[in-house]
Amino acid sequence: MTASSSGMWSSRLIFILAAAGSAVGLGNIWRFPYVAGENGGGVFVLAYLLCICVIGLPIMIAEIVLGRAGKNSPIASMKIMARDSGANPAWQIIGWMGVVAGFMILSFYSVIAGWALAYFLKMIQGAFLGIDADSANRVFEDFISNPHRLVFWHTIFMAITIFITSRGVGQGLERAVKLLMPGLFLLLILLVIWAASSSGYFLKGISFLFSPKPEDFSGDSVFLAMGQAFFTLSLGMGAIMAYGAYLPKSAGIAGSALTIGVLDTLVALLSGMIIFPIVFANGLEPSAGPGLMFVSLPLAFGNMVAGQIFGALFFLLVSFAAVTSAISISEPAVAWLSEKGKFARSTSAYTIGFLAWLLGLGSAFSFNLMSGFTLLPEKSFFDSMDFLSNNVLLPFGGILISLFVGWRLKPEILLDQLPEISRFFLGLLIFSLRFIAPGAIFLVFAMSFLK
Ligand code: PFF
Repeated sequence: MTASSSGMWSSRLIFILAAAGSAVGLGNIWRFPYVAGENGGGVFVLAYLLCICVIGLPIMIAEIVLGRAGKNSPIASMKIMARDSGANPAWQIIGWMGVVAGFMILSFYSVIAGWALAYFLKMIQGAFLGIDADSANRVFEDFISNPHRLVFWHTIFMAITIFITSRGVGQGLERAVKLLMPGLFLLLILLVIWAASSSGYFLKGISFLFSPKPEDFSGDSVFLAMGQAFFTLSLGMGAIMAYGAYLPKSAGIAGSALTIGVLDTLVALLSGMIIFPIVFANGLEPSAGPGLMFVSLPLAFGNMVAGQIFGALFFLLVSFAAVTSAISISEPAVAWLSEKGKFARSTSAYTIGFLAWLLGLGSAFSFNLMSGFTLLPEKSFFDSMDFLSNNVLLPFGGILISLFVGWRLKPEILLDQLPEISRFFLGLLIFSLRFIAPGAIFLVFAMSFLK
């Protein structure tokens, strides 16, 4: 391999690692199983997979195209793309919405990632050795009922994220992701093998995830599956757009998007295949909510050979995966603040981090002090933040991104960014971005009113 081609490979790899680092996170390991569990399993998983293929992949390609052609923060890239295409500058709203969504997501993401950090410590201390389902539940309930502890871990996680963000996404992070991704993957595979060989409930878990029952179908669960697809692929708010600039011109966008989509989906499905057999083997409720992973996995680690080590390693890797995602969540907002020229990157990062930390207190307290408080009807502060960002802002951002690239982006820019795609696939992509993806998002929004 020549020097230049090896350079090209490593840059493509760096993009894939950064984007996969953004995509793979709490959304796959914590959120996917619990939202699937709350929504009947199979139907939700089917709808989620369809949304990844029909909506997620075309929009991911569109975001990378905009990022690589715009070469700036999402707000500035959208401004440049609109200008170069002779379109209305108001399309910048895509970037603005991303800043708002990112800010909201970062606030609650940090709270939950704090739980993973705390569980890393609990694992090291051997808090779950030989534990049963009731005690695992009790440990979790005790933990989240203590506001000080949640705020403590939320603060630690936010500080780590913002410290790294303030220095710019550099070499260290890339190296960490290079190690982390294969490590996490390997551990997940080991755990699936363990679940398959020991629980006796593997098939029940698999059938819960993969055999949809028509009676579980509801417009609402399809709506939630779509929100999950956006959240897990980091789409609709410019995070992938911001990373698009990493991709060298010679690397194929479609192939990169496909790789990231497949990796991300695999991690989510593996997590489900680990968690649900444990849930059924121990008489837990699949619909237990956000605590699902924090009750079921300690049970497994507490009762397996060398579980203390595997458990500590697992929560450490999950915390790392959460950091690489959180950095990308903050990126559009931080890039925008520093782009204004008024602030240094570090000042921007600390400002955004502090404000998101403050907003995150509402989510931390919604599990204890403010548990009776609802922001949206029947939704706690945490649930409201999650719902508004993942199920409203991200899909809405997705509609705008697909409409912009499908209808308004100058065709030369699209052709220039996707030289490797055949005419047939290019046509298919444009058709998807013009009609299928926005139509499907719109339809799913409409269906959510059906219940
Ligand atoms: N995709 C991340 C996860 O699954 O944990 C979360 C996320 C990252 C959402 C970046 C949105 C985003 F822009």
